[in-house]
Amino acid sequence: MRAIGFAIAVLALLLTSCESYHGSGATARQEPARRAHRIDMAQVPLWSEEALEFFLHGSMSTEIVPEALLQAFGATYPDLFPGKDLLSFGAIVERPGELPLGFSRREVPHLGGLSAVGMNCASCHTVEIAPKGGASVVVLGANGHFDAEAYFGAVTVAMLRTAEPENMRRFLKHYLVAIDPKAGDAALRLLDDALAEQRERISAAIKTDPSGAKDIAAGTLHPLRAANLRLDRKRLESGVDLAALASSLLKLFHNIRVSLHIPDELPKELPPASGPGRNDPFGLLSRSLFGVATPYSPIKPGVTWNLENRTWVHADGNTRLPIIRNLLASLGLGAPLLGNEGKLDFAQVKRHTDLTETMRAPRYPWAVDADPARRGANLYQSHCASCHEGPENDKRLYALEKIGTDPTRARAFDAQQAKLLNEFFEKVQIKGFHPPQEPAIRSTGKYWATSLRGVWARSPYLHNASVRTMQELLTPPAQRPKSYRRGSRTYDTEAMGFIDEGHYVLDTTSLGNSNTGHDYGTRLSAAEKRDLIEFLKTK
Ligand code: HEC
Ligand code: HEC
Repeated sequence: MRAIGFAIAVLALLLTSCESYHGSGATARQEPARRAHRIDMAQVPLWSEEALEFFLHGSMSTEIVPEALLQAFGATYPDLFPGKDLLSFGAIVERPGELPLGFSRREVPHLGGLSAVGMNCASCHTVEIAPKGGASVVVLGANGHFDAEAYFGAVTVAMLRTAEPENMRRFLKHYLVAIDPKAGDAALRLLDDALAEQRERISAAIKTDPSGAKDIAAGTLHPLRAANLRLDRKRLESGVDLAALASSLLKLFHNIRVSLHIPDELPKELPPASGPGRNDPFGLLSRSLFGVATPYSPIKPGVTWNLENRTWVHADGNTRLPIIRNLLASLGLGAPLLGNEGKLDFAQVKRHTDLTETMRAPRYPWAVDADPARRGANLYQSHCASCHEGPENDKRLYALEKIGTDPTRARAFDAQQAKLLNEFFEKVQIKGFHPPQEPAIRSTGKYWATSLRGVWARSPYLHNASVRTMQELLTPPAQRPKSYRRGSRTYDTEAMGFIDEGHYVLDTTSLGNSNTGHDYGTRLSAAEKRDLIEFLKTK
């Protein structure tokens, strides 16, 4: 969401010591098809292979990080980019060197025509699950591990660092290799000489305008030309003006910040890091769009299947029209918003929207024990079905006092938030988009009991991902672990959830992270809980 851009800014400073990602990242070649992972096409019966490719790599106008920049940043600042590819931020990489699932590529006019990468729905709404010792599967539409905040945070810090002369000099060497891989040692020597010769001029150029924002109105984009951003052997041989190149790069960074809604001055107060597969979209949206602070409430992406049965979505059922939600995602993740005008390709966002409206829940891909599952079905009927089955209407909304899970997210999205967003959508201008006749956003102050279809693929559980496994959800709240480690893709089929491993520690005692409440089924016997879990695998 638009807010995410701000989040990123904010989280940027937390990234000074970025730890590496310890997910297993296991890959398997289960199918002869070009996909490296097993994908169950029964989830998307109406999709062609081309539609699947669009879901996984199609643009939603968020391409904002030029590939050459990403590569050069990675080489210049290995502490910020610990892996060779986006795997280190939790993305699903099919083969080394290829774009991860959920990423698109496009040449972007306001980035000087450079080829840039962007995120789409699948980056957050696709998960890789590897049973202990087994081949992994990729589930479409479930909450994944990508840490968008950490990724944009790393890019933001890298841009800030490069606005220092010494770092700019180091960066330019990697930038040359990224743009012209065949440049060779001779070209690198030419660059070294030019850097030494133009040292003072480069420093002066940076000092004059470190944020690339001089002589331009706030929130607007510089016109940039590819030629001004190019560094290759040919240019070096004909005598390149490195001070001018540095200035153009700083302007490019400015354009990236504007598109991500990141201010040139980072705020001093930073919300906590949300970790893999979570962010605080509405909170960040509120700050960056309206300047209104709300309590930090991290949330995992919901699922994008069986949407045809639902009118209102999100944890609190606050949004009615899918296109509204998806336009926010596009504007938040890199599509520029200039004044009231959103610069995005509406047809492509619409296509993502239409595709996700036809997705089905995934079948459990491993063995299910039939007898316990049968017994579990009865337990489900008596303990769970009253809330999680039946029509998906507002009866699915449960008061905080009743459900008892962390109240922050439901409370934070209050009537003022709904009003501000509805007003935003009355004003915003996007080619092809017509504002809704009736408000599409509301505040409920409650939580939605979703269908539990495909629940096996939705670990960790509850809206804030505070409960790691189904086994733990069926444990009395006071006895649930106070913290767990997140990031691993290794999955425990017995407990039904990811194992307690990963670089991020989710501390359930901190704001927005509580794992209290929802004590249904916690008084069942150990054998009954096993039966219930076995049944839930068939959902
Ligand atoms: C940066 C990560 C990210 C991207 C990219 C993203 N989403 Fe989401 N999505 C989220 C988060 C986080 C939520 C939960 C928000 C809430 O409930 O408050 C969510 C919620 C949803 C929901 C509601 C699910 C439910 O159970 O209520 C749907 C549907 C959805 N997203 C679809 C999409 C589609 C379609 C796209 C692409 C056009 C997309 N999302 C792009 C993070 C993302
Ligand atoms: C009184 C209504 C009610 C009953 C009974 C109930 N639930 Fe829930 N359930 C909810 C609500 C509301 C939520 C959303 C809470 C949140 O995310 O904070 C929820 C969330 C969940 C989730 C999290 C889903 C996800 O994707 O993270 C799971 C799993 C779940 N329930 C399983 C069960 C099981 C199993 C039972 C029976 C033992 C059960 N529920 C009984 C209302 C109920």
